[in-house]
Amino acid sequence: MKKYKQIFSTFHTVYRLITASSNVSNFLSGACRLYKNSFKLDRVVIICKNVNYSLYIKIRMENNCQYEKKGGISILTKREKEILNREKEISFPNRLFYPLVFSETLGVIYIKRGPPNGPFTELEKKWFFSLSEEISVGLKIFNLYREEKKMIISYVKSLTKLLDQYVPTSYLHTKNIFRFIRMLGKAMKLSEAEIKSLEYASLLHDAGKIQLPSAILKKQRPLTDEEFKIIRKHPREGVELIKDLDILKPVIPIILHHHERYDGSGYPSRLKKEQIPIGSRILSIIDAFDAMYFGRPYRKKIPLPEIEQEIKKESAKQFDPKIVDIFLKILRRKATPKELRFSK
Ligand SMILES: [Fe+2]
Repeated sequence: MKKYKQIFSTFHTVYRLITASSNVSNFLSGACRLYKNSFKLDRVVIICKNVNYSLYIKIRMENNCQYEKKGGISILTKREKEILNREKEISFPNRLFYPLVFSETLGVIYIKRGPPNGPFTELEKKWFFSLSEEISVGLKIFNLYREEKKMIISYVKSLTKLLDQYVPTSYLHTKNIFRFIRMLGKAMKLSEAEIKSLEYASLLHDAGKIQLPSAILKKQRPLTDEEFKIIRKHPREGVELIKDLDILKPVIPIILHHHERYDGSGYPSRLKKEQIPIGSRILSIIDAFDAMYFGRPYRKKIPLPEIEQEIKKESAKQFDPKIVDIFLKILRRKATPKELRFSK
């Protein structure tokens, strides 16, 4: 009975690994550990095809050490290539091989156990084969997720292109701005996933303007109160455009609140201080910098020393003072493109 409980628990662990792993390498490392501990193995190897843009990924766990290799077919040994091509399970008393297949060959797993734990029992073989099928499902999910991500990226690109034609210069000047986002994100201790969301948000934050009359967007004279009311709808309109895309869910709050102000006088929700999502607080300063540095149809470019003064002036009013400090430090760093650097 105890054994069956353990078997059941390993299936549950695979499910948890699928939902909790941030990338395929983490998932496969977790799977290796699970096999190693469950079957008391000397060695476990998982090889996957065509994952995360490299052709193969190989994770080997042996003597409590883990080795990971990514690359072309040359990272596989002759024997591993043979096993991968055979696409059927193979069992020896102390070694088991199982192809990871789910509508296509995704990879292979093999395990080895020497004395004192002895050869695999019939129950263990069945357990290993079933568990490996679960791993195949997990890998397929990661592949599908990657495909979806590719589709979303091309959707984001088309949308920003369209936006650029409709409202020129309303999107950020991507190349340099992405570097700032990355540097600011890291300094604010954001995770890689949060930085990625911020990059998407930087491309899409004004996408909702597509839904607004172009006469207002292109107007070069000051806007009337009525026209401002219409402009203020663009964060919500932007959310409408992406709300059904799962991968972009974390981007929604950043876009919705990118016009909030630290002192609580922004829109649409008049949030203040830490109530404003950190991504929106970062984006707000980057957006303002971009508008001042590159100019907008309704405002001229401003020289860097004046931008610095302007940003300092708005610290704790429009912008989070902590982010202002970090942003200004970054602008003085050597790693910042020369043309965007403040002199000390
Ligand atoms: Fe905006």
